[in-house]
Amino acid sequence: MPGDRILEVRGLSKSFRGVRALQDVSLSVEEGQIVGLIGPNGSGKSTALNCISGFIKPDDGAVTFRGQDITGSRPSRIANLGIMRTFQVTKLARRMTLLENLLLGAQSAQDESLTSSFLRGGRYRARQPALLERARSLLDSVKLSHLENDYVAVLSGGQQRLLSIALVLIRDPDVVLLDEPAAGVHPTLVEQFIETIADIRRESGKSFLIIEHNMHFISSVSDEIVVLDAGMNLASGSPEMIHNDPKVLEVYLGKQQ
Ligand SMILES: Nc1ncnc2c1ncn2[C@@H]1O[C@H](COP(=O)(O)OP(=O)(O)OP(=O)(O)O)[C@@H](O)[C@H]1O
Ligand SMILES: [Mg+2]
Repeated sequence: MPGDRILEVRGLSKSFRGVRALQDVSLSVEEGQIVGLIGPNGSGKSTALNCISGFIKPDDGAVTFRGQDITGSRPSRIANLGIMRTFQVTKLARRMTLLENLLLGAQSAQDESLTSSFLRGGRYRARQPALLERARSLLDSVKLSHLENDYVAVLSGGQQRLLSIALVLIRDPDVVLLDEPAAGVHPTLVEQFIETIADIRRESGKSFLIIEHNMHFISSVSDEIVVLDAGMNLASGSPEMIHNDPKVLEVYLGKQQ
């Protein structure tokens, strides 16, 4: 139901050999909401995302998905439950075409959920036309249709980011975690990228938690923004509130000096 909390993070703490990357961080995402996560370099954003997606076990705190405690669960279990992520550095099969990357991504998701190879073969064949259609429609939504048979290696950095979002979406998650999706996207394409994210949300009703340094991008796509500083919650609120928050301005102005 829209308005229900689909993802909740409470009191998350994590230290790496004495470095306190997160200290008592809390945030939540409602069903169908886009939440932006911002903060200076090293403020703990990726660590928070790693704790949510299971790649790092927090020292303290809890992550719940639809009310179910998933703290410290394995990444594959969390992905199968419906929380999927992209990485700050994209992981794509460069010697395969865009379409092949998407079909492989969808197929591996099916393989994980099926136990019998007999069933797997039969079901995969039966689903292939539908999968192909879905892969093409996702390429269309990230504006990469014209490149479907090109190798990933020829894509620009920004196009690779767009493809990695499609690769997450083909597995049909309920919550999408994006780590700096607009990094490397050319400024002239950022407007288009904002529209793409808004379209995907409108059409799919999925919930997003997006880490991003590009303030124009994050303010345009987010319903709410959470600001971290030095591993702690600094502020949260609407993009407008965040823009006018003296604490946030101080952190960002301080960083530019
Ligand atoms: N695996 C790790 N081992 C040791 N220290 C780490 C590890 N991951 C993160 N850190 C440290 O934790 C702190 C937070 O890092 P994190 O990557 O979460 O920041 P960030 O907000 O994502 O920064 P950026 O905007 O630069 O991506 C930093 O001091 C970083 O050096
Ligand atoms: Mg990061």
